[in-house]
Amino acid sequence: MSQSSVDALPESLVVVSNRQPYSHEWTADPVEGAITTDDVAVTTATGGVTSALDPLMRSLGGTWVAWASGDADMAVADEGIVAVPPGEESYDLKRVPLSEEEIEGYYHGYANQVLWPLCHEESGRIWAKPTYWEQYRAVNERFAGAVREVTDPEDTVWFQDYHFALAPRRVRTARPDATLHHFWHIPWPAPTVFDHCPRGEAVLDGLLACDVVGFHTEPDADHFCRCVEAIVPDATVDLDNSVVRYEGTETRAVANPLGIDVDGVRHRAENADTDAVRRQLLGDTVPDPSIPIVLGVERLDYSKGIPERIAALDHLWERRPDLRGEFTYVQKASRTREGIAAYRRYRQDVVAEMQRINERYGTDDWHPAVYTERRLSAETLAGLYRVADAALVTPHRDGMNLVAHEYPTACVDGDGALVLSELAGAATQLDGALTVNPHDIAEIADAIERSLELDERDRRERLARLQASIEVLDSTNWVERQFRAGPD
Ligand code: F6P
Repeated sequence: MSQSSVDALPESLVVVSNRQPYSHEWTADPVEGAITTDDVAVTTATGGVTSALDPLMRSLGGTWVAWASGDADMAVADEGIVAVPPGEESYDLKRVPLSEEEIEGYYHGYANQVLWPLCHEESGRIWAKPTYWEQYRAVNERFAGAVREVTDPEDTVWFQDYHFALAPRRVRTARPDATLHHFWHIPWPAPTVFDHCPRGEAVLDGLLACDVVGFHTEPDADHFCRCVEAIVPDATVDLDNSVVRYEGTETRAVANPLGIDVDGVRHRAENADTDAVRRQLLGDTVPDPSIPIVLGVERLDYSKGIPERIAALDHLWERRPDLRGEFTYVQKASRTREGIAAYRRYRQDVVAEMQRINERYGTDDWHPAVYTERRLSAETLAGLYRVADAALVTPHRDGMNLVAHEYPTACVDGDGALVLSELAGAATQLDGALTVNPHDIAEIADAIERSLELDERDRRERLARLQASIEVLDSTNWVERQFRAGPD
């Protein structure tokens, strides 16, 4: 795609996100003197935000502002700015270094112990130490300052995610004529849940400095407007059109579901050496390639519903002893946010449950469940998806969930079944999945059973429907839809 050929796109763009698209790490202890390429390794982020926005930035040019999380990030930059991608240098990456105290209060604090549990309807997990809000506000101010440094008055800025609810207001004050966009990548809760938010009115005030706030689904956009109506007395809310007028800005709340780079995932799956992937990841535990694989891929986040899924496997093997030995469950897990006790405990629980199920059902010839925390390249992951006969995506709540897009796309042999939580944003968009209530262990067990026993025609027909609905949501379309919703 030539991004600049699309009318709605700005001529250049400033993107703001917590995670950066490229990070630099020392390969050895830094030494005084000139830095050589041997001293530093560059890592490219693989998440949904980078795969959607990096191609856009490469085509448009501009600046991406993000947290300098790599230990060599600032050393390779000039006044915090480095041209990326390496070797292509088509846009600037402006890095904002954060102190330990800032990371604790902003990232581990208000972002991930207040907004994250709030928006995933886990308000019992909210923990709001006074320093969390102070640091969240201070870091948002620092990012706003970085944006002011790299923008002209009428530029377009696109903030990403719940890390930056306050920065838009700070930027708007200095840049009244700028066009400001935001995309909230996690769910937005109903007003009765948002009532739990400490400093909720300030969060809404920050976002209402934007011309457009994007959400994955219609209910998220509607909840946002209803929260504004309930909490911000001076705002005028048009619920029918999802438009808010406040402090001189007209803000449109739009449903704009994010998808994946469909061609990229498909290409990687087509080129995957599935025998090598099997050998590398499953060789010791599932030596027989005819044993079906049921797959789960996620960060170890308490919103993902992994314990219920393991309980469902337990229930299924209990109820259907004939299915013991007939398939293996593979859990690819990534450690995450371990500065927060709830995440450390969640990981321990998942690991313990995986062990328990293997002890209960395992035999000399059969490994019921395989658990891996290995970091996989995008190529290997696409190969693993292709090898799997079914995938389980059963979060309690999820903004979208891109694994639900990647797995069917990578099933390039036309065969594969998706069990999907009806509370993931993906369930509102994708057609052909076996949907479940993620808390209903018996229902998840039934869906796993069904995913393995669907007749071939039904499996293929469902997968084709999934693939067609995913294709429509390709990340290129997401970018275009966001800017089409902006001011003329
Ligand atoms: O889903 C929201 C999100 O911020 C994603 O954009 C990101 O991939 C994920 O959570 C990972 O979170 P973190 O950056 O805290 O590791």
